[in-house]
Amino acid sequence: MAEPDLAAAIKAALAAVEIPGGGDLAGYAGLSDIIITPSAVAFAIAVAPGMEAAFGPAREQAQAIAMQTAGKRKVMVSLTGGKPPAKAGPTFSHGAPVPPGKTAVTGIKRIIAVGSGKGGVGKSTTAVNLALALQAEGLRVGVLDADLYGPSIPKLLGLEGQPAIRDDGIFSPHATFGLKAMSIGSMLVKDQAVVWRGPMATSALRQLLRETDWGTLDILVVDLPPGTGDIQISLFQQAVVDGVVIVSTPQDLALIDAKKAIDMIRRFSVPLLGLVENMSYFIAPDTGTRYDIFGSGGAQRAAADLAMPFLGAVPLVMSIREGSDAGLPPLVSAPDGAESLAYRAIARQLLQQLPA
Ligand SMILES: Nc1ncnc2c1ncn2[C@@H]1O[C@H](COP(=O)(O)OP(=O)(O)O)[C@@H](O)[C@H]1O
Ligand SMILES: [Mg+2]
Repeated sequence: MAEPDLAAAIKAALAAVEIPGGGDLAGYAGLSDIIITPSAVAFAIAVAPGMEAAFGPAREQAQAIAMQTAGKRKVMVSLTGGKPPAKAGPTFSHGAPVPPGKTAVTGIKRIIAVGSGKGGVGKSTTAVNLALALQAEGLRVGVLDADLYGPSIPKLLGLEGQPAIRDDGIFSPHATFGLKAMSIGSMLVKDQAVVWRGPMATSALRQLLRETDWGTLDILVVDLPPGTGDIQISLFQQAVVDGVVIVSTPQDLALIDAKKAIDMIRRFSVPLLGLVENMSYFIAPDTGTRYDIFGSGGAQRAAADLAMPFLGAVPLVMSIREGSDAGLPPLVSAPDGAESLAYRAIARQLLQQLPA
């Protein structure tokens, strides 16, 4: 079935689902758009605060109905609380259940997120190479691309095709260079832009995180979107995040943007594991000479000002950009190169910041 037809067919079938307060799901104002990708069907049901439990059966029924129509696609239906639908349904000012607390993700010992104040500072590049560097320390490592608005892990790791989906609906992540990797980018057709609504994005994140067979991982590295948006909040609220690494460039060392991100992370009581200065100095490709083009020591001072550890600096080198574009990270193509050694030093610093 063509994708628009499939979305319409699913929506029509949702008329069979009764919702609390009367009416059916197809006509409910809190039903999101139904997003169809080659491998997934996703939609969310936004409910008024406190109504999550009451809507549970409707969600399950919607999931079952969508699965009948969706063929081999994975169906992701989520309830998103806290944002009442535009036409508010019944709201209860009493008896609101305690929001579900943070829960561990099966098989994953630690979650480390990589964040930044703004985009383009090399956060994803750092996340991937840091993951590989942690692996080089003997750890089992996975990468979750939580930048749903600009997923770049598939390109950085050269992931091809879509993740397999098991019969029970659980994703089998990509496995490449020894890393397990999941990204929404692998499920989109090339250059397809997805306009997420807040609740949709957070539910997609939840499913990428929790409905993936990660096996046993010592560390899951999460590549966050830049800034302080709903994805960050959702991750910090639902999962035990062992800490965040902040990536910044020297130009950004006024750190105005990063400061905002850091403040938010502190508000969620998530540990700040340290600052990585990316594109810190320049290594001339012909002579290998190092140039501290922005002076030196700025990042250490900035980290100290922010009361967080300085984890290390990554040079600005052509090979990092070229390798990233080609899906061949420096840690794989030149594990003993200067860039790789920089990432490995950062990984060791990072491990020291983690409680045993
Ligand atoms: N240390 C580096 N040296 C050279 N190029 C880099 C370096 N770090 C990142 N880049 C390049 O900068 C661009 C942005 O990096 P990316 O990791 O996608 O940033 P972000 O995730 O913060 O948006 C990419 O083209 C990447 O290859
Ligand atoms: Mg990125």
